[in-house]
Amino acid sequence: MSNPRERHAMSHVTCIEDLRRLARKRVPRMFYDYVDGGSWTESTYRANECDLQRLEFRQRVACDITHRSLDSTMAGQSVSMPVAIAPTGLTGMQYADGEILAAQAAKRAGIPFTLSTMSICSIEAVANATGHHPFWFQLYVTRDRRFSEDLIERARAARCSALMVTMDLQVFGQRHKDRKNGLSVPPRLTPKHLLDLACKPRWCLGMLGTRHRQFGNIVGHARGVDDIRSLVAWTQEQFDPTLSWADVEWIKERWGGPLIVKGIQHPDDAHLAVESGADAVVVSNHGGRQLDGAASSITTLPEIVEAVGARTEIHFDSGIRSGQDTLRALALGARGVYIGRAMLYGLGALGEPGVTRALDIIRDELDLSMAFCGRTDVQAVDRDILRPSLRPI
Ligand code: FNR
Repeated sequence: MSNPRERHAMSHVTCIEDLRRLARKRVPRMFYDYVDGGSWTESTYRANECDLQRLEFRQRVACDITHRSLDSTMAGQSVSMPVAIAPTGLTGMQYADGEILAAQAAKRAGIPFTLSTMSICSIEAVANATGHHPFWFQLYVTRDRRFSEDLIERARAARCSALMVTMDLQVFGQRHKDRKNGLSVPPRLTPKHLLDLACKPRWCLGMLGTRHRQFGNIVGHARGVDDIRSLVAWTQEQFDPTLSWADVEWIKERWGGPLIVKGIQHPDDAHLAVESGADAVVVSNHGGRQLDGAASSITTLPEIVEAVGARTEIHFDSGIRSGQDTLRALALGARGVYIGRAMLYGLGALGEPGVTRALDIIRDELDLSMAFCGRTDVQAVDRDILRPSLRPI
């Protein structure tokens, strides 16, 4: 990091919360609020974080913890720690070229990066910028199944090593902040927004200097979507309320490689996902952005592990803000976790070095917390590191 101001800002970052505060100062309010909020009353969004933090560890002493390993696998892929970057839409609006920068940080860290269908940088742009290092692609199944098929082929051509299909966005949870901010495509710019932009010159300069300013997977690829304006109507009609498990079977057949099914919160759905061909399921409530009033994601993890843990790999997300949270999810049976906002805060705060910092923070916290619990191998972490009284369920 060559810029002294950026080096100074980085030197004050010791936890994910520091990155969040810095991102809040640097990212235009409309895009920051898009990240830092949940649906309706945000009760599930808050519960995701709180319920993770309520799980208490049991410290052990006098164990030999000299040699420790965070190496593991997720969806059959080697990872330097059991953490992956979650798919998030509009990431290129937190910071210019955001998806490319996050993918590069993940590559350097030895963990998977998942690109969203609703990304700003396209599948091809991310593949080219990372030297065709394999990443994962997240698919929203569109009403126009031919477009979904095209996306699968593009992901294959870009050498994506796993496909993730998101099941929990057949309808949209309402986020009040986005409505109030006028978050739309293209953004509705009021004098208040323009004033806000004037206070964020670093962000504006980045956006002026990049070609990636619209939904790269869609504009110019979907039928009738040639510019950002035609995208609005397309998006509204393409999210599909008829999505079914037969679609997942169809995707599995077309894709042929590792398939991850995301958005599972009920044991019955977990069974159906496995029967439809999932190689891994993600226990996720979309970071509290969909069904408000639902249980926190960590509360639902144990019952899903019990239901299908012997037949498939279980991944977890929603609320992970630290290495301690990661360890809690692993203790309850997750093979690995995804970080959404923790990555986005780093990106919005400092660009690629911010994502790298977020990953380093989580890695160090995971390693040391595991050591405090008397464990040396992340793959051998189990429920015994948690106090029984406060286990959820
Ligand atoms: C998301 N998420 C998401 N999921 C998905 O499958 N496709 C997507 O395009 C998006 N977009 C998106 C945007 C933003 C701003 C956020 C915060 C989240 C959900 C995401 O993959 C993941 O499930 C949550 O982010 C996990 O919760 P935490 O880690 O953010 O608490």
